[in-house]
Amino acid sequence: FDLSTRNTLALRAVSRFSAFVESPAQLPALFAEAEAMGLPVRLLGGGSNVVLAPRFEGITALMAISGRTVLEERSDAVLLEVAAGENWHDLVAWSVGQGFGGLENLALIPGTVGAAPVQNIGAYGAEVADFLDSVLVYDRMEQREQRFGRDACAFAYRDSRFKREPGRYVVLSLRLSLPRPWRANLGFAGLAELGEGATPEAVMQRVVALRQSKLPDWHVEPNAGSFFHNPIVAPELAAAVVAELASAPNYPQPDGRVKLSAGWLIEQSGLKGFRLGPVGTSPRHALVVVNHGGGTAEDIAALAAHIKATVLARFGVRLQEEPVFF
Ligand code: EPU
Repeated sequence: FDLSTRNTLALRAVSRFSAFVESPAQLPALFAEAEAMGLPVRLLGGGSNVVLAPRFEGITALMAISGRTVLEERSDAVLLEVAAGENWHDLVAWSVGQGFGGLENLALIPGTVGAAPVQNIGAYGAEVADFLDSVLVYDRMEQREQRFGRDACAFAYRDSRFKREPGRYVVLSLRLSLPRPWRANLGFAGLAELGEGATPEAVMQRVVALRQSKLPDWHVEPNAGSFFHNPIVAPELAAAVVAELASAPNYPQPDGRVKLSAGWLIEQSGLKGFRLGPVGTSPRHALVVVNHGGGTAEDIAALAAHIKATVLARFGVRLQEEPVFF
């Protein structure tokens, strides 16, 4: 089964078997069958945060459970229930279109609803954890469905309980809580100009425009968004970087550590627009790795290793990949 058009890096990738998951009820039988055949199962959503190997000797389960409903409209919040196979941006546009503000800062993030809590997607001063009431999962270890409240999901920057135990949980649906009254979240540079009278629709349009102006479109230049986390480092290391180059973006964290900007570190290491064979960093944004055509997972891994070694030698900062290598 060809997955080349099902990953946003457009890596050529084939899976021995595939299965479209259209209902949670299919999962127990799917896992039982795979076990009987001695085959591994991996789950794929929108393929926007993965580096796929050329061949997978197992079953790729394609998440395709659909459905979006307004569960409850309360005075203090609107509750939505959304299935894992829905497209994330379509959900944002649909909810904003109904007059429910909340998700607009997270517009245009590629991928599925089910993938959103796994890496706790975030942008423009918001993350999905801010709006999560609970997540319904299928737990492969206990072979049953479980609902985790927001606190049990152990969310952190680009991290969650689901990410820390790879392969254990299949996200089935999210229950989202959009607080009322809605208040625009304009703290991020580029949004403040909208002013307090801004509508959710106006914020969404601005976020879409900002993303389009900064990030290459994966349909045109195949990529997986930010390829590394923004590193959170000891204050001494951050101070050394800033002492050397005062322009270094740095964001003190509540725990005393400091978040640096991976895109800036890569650019200052001379690697913006760098190419290694068929892959490279985007000339528009150094944090985005682009497949210029015909690249493989091996090419991506070689480029990532080169970037990490160069940034470590230049600044003493260790970068960590964001996508999952499958
Ligand atoms: N920068 C450079 N050179 C570059 C790129 C960026 O110096 O080539 C500097 C910018 O000037 C800025 C800083 O780096 O001072 C941060 O750049 P940007 O605002 O583009 O955001 P980011 O930190 O690179 C993060 C998220 C994005 C999210 C944006 C907006 C991570 C790993 N990435 O990127 O998320 O859209 O903020 O909130 O946290 C993703 O995860 O795939 C993703 C796109």
